Amino acid sequence: MRSEIITNFAIAILVTACGTNAASTTSTKTKTTKTTTTKVSTTTTPTNCIFTTYSDFSSYKTCSNILIQGPITVPAGSLIDLSKLATGATVTVSGNITFPHSSALTHSDFLITVGGAGITFQGDSSNPAILDGSGAGYWDGQGSNGGVAKPKFFSLKTTATSVIKNIKIVNAPVQCFSISASDTTLDSITIDDSAGDALTSTGITYAHNTDAFDVSGTNVAIINSWVHNQDDCLAIKTGTGFNFFNNTCIGGHGISIGSIGSGDIVSTVLVKNCTVENSLNGIRIKTDAGASGGSVKNVIYEDIILKNIVKATNSTDPPAMGICVRQDYNNGNPTLDPSGTIPISNLTVTNIVGTVTSNSFGTAYSTFILCTPGECSDFTFSGINITPVHTNCTNISPLPTVYRAYGAAGGVLREVDSKYYTFAAWSGDLNNLEMIGRMDGNAKWD
Ligand SMILES: *[C@@H]1O[C@H](CO)[C@@H](O)[C@H](O)[C@H]1NC(C)=O
Ligand SMILES: *[C@@H]1O[C@H](CO)[C@@H](O)[C@H](O)[C@H]1NC(C)=O
Ligand SMILES: *[C@@H]1O[C@H](CO)[C@@H](O)[C@H](O)[C@H]1NC(C)=O
Ligand SMILES: *[C@@H]1O[C@H](CO)[C@@H](O)[C@H](O)[C@H]1NC(C)=O
Ligand SMILES: *[C@@H]1O[C@H](CO)[C@@H](O)[C@H](O)[C@H]1NC(C)=O
Ligand SMILES: *[C@@H]1O[C@H](CO)[C@@H](O)[C@H](O)[C@H]1NC(C)=O
Repeated sequence: MRSEIITNFAIAILVTACGTNAASTTSTKTKTTKTTTTKVSTTTTPTNCIFTTYSDFSSYKTCSNILIQGPITVPAGSLIDLSKLATGATVTVSGNITFPHSSALTHSDFLITVGGAGITFQGDSSNPAILDGSGAGYWDGQGSNGGVAKPKFFSLKTTATSVIKNIKIVNAPVQCFSISASDTTLDSITIDDSAGDALTSTGITYAHNTDAFDVSGTNVAIINSWVHNQDDCLAIKTGTGFNFFNNTCIGGHGISIGSIGSGDIVSTVLVKNCTVENSLNGIRIKTDAGASGGSVKNVIYEDIILKNIVKATNSTDPPAMGICVRQDYNNGNPTLDPSGTIPISNLTVTNIVGTVTSNSFGTAYSTFILCTPGECSDFTFSGINITPVHTNCTNISPLPTVYRAYGAAGGVLREVDSKYYTFAAWSGDLNNLEMIGRMDGNAKWD
């Protein structure tokens, strides 16, 4: 039986993310969301401590309740060590903590270290906690690749249902959070390194390698947070059980897994309901060329809005990419020569919408996939609507399939039977002409 549907508005069309091969399948996946609910109980008598000066921190191990009453300026070259908090301790930061610039600090230093089991480290909602790393004293456009020595900001080593919440960090000299944790949630974190967006005389941002969250561990969630930086918003390095929900990422390199090197295993990642704006990439998975013994599997990116994915500076960075999966990294840089055996499997990318922008610094890709032959498998893409469409997918078979929804376009959709459609006419977005060609045959609709 034949019928005809005439439409002048949104039509869902089966095409591929990579611009070839219309016939493919989609599948439904079950998502696992890990949440932690119980608080570790402590049998010690609560010891309340109020820290108003840097020297007060020396007694921290004996305190179960700590109020850090800012403003506190840490002596230049000193670090805050809360690495061995009492089990179940609560630390509340009220007001500012400033870490002045110091040329005595190096890349192996962290301005603050927080560690322990069942920890709550929180900002005082009535007197917002702002941790200021005085980045301007360090920013030289070279990040951790050279130039002046720069301390990292925040080492987090928590376990057993720990929560870090309602903290604002500004002016990170270089990488912000280095997280090596289990059963830990970071909620309502603001990282504002926007002051480092200023351009050097060679046209690159003064702040560099300011990764917001470098994460390893088990069951780590980052939620309801806001980042403006100049490198990865998220970079998952190794471990399992990562949730990244409700976050906004501005100015940086997008929501990443990697680079994954030899022996690093990342599994069970759910990135959902996030916005990536004015950034070099939207979502990205990168593995090291020549590496082996690791893997990336069971990853879902879902409901992501991309706004202006763009290469905005005169840097040696690769072109802007909305969706990027690549296996060619070497010493932190892409080589366009993928190799090694770090398989990426069971990757689901669903409902990714928005724009990429080309300019004099480069032509942007909506989707770029560069796999080592045989090392990428079970990719399921759906609901990808990133414009303008410009894709390049290498060594991925079958090509991931998407349904695209077009708005405000005209066309005649003919139903061949309940499952198959062809287009009789199309007057829609001409950027998608390659897609129209794919619809001339009997593309499957399911
Ligand atoms: C706290 O830090 C913010 C940002 O650095 C600054 O604007 C504000 O004046 C500081 N407040 C106090 C009380 O020092
Ligand atoms: C980038 O900066 C370098 C060094 O100043 C300059 O030689 C080059 O022309 C610039 N390129 C662009 C595209 O601006
Ligand atoms: C995401 O935000 C919504 C709306 O504010 C909220 O209901 C939901 O709980 C948030 N998700 C998480 C994991 O906090
Ligand atoms: C998605 O995250 C934003 C914050 O970025 C929040 O305002 C919104 O309510 C969230 N939506 C859902 C459905 O959780
Ligand atoms: C694929 O990954 C999802 C998300 O982590 C998981 O729920 C599902 O079980 C995985 N599928 C297989 C076949 O491992
Ligand atoms: C696609 O990318 C591959 C790998 O970088 C490159 O060799 C090829 O020339 C590219 N194709 C197009 C059409 O850009």
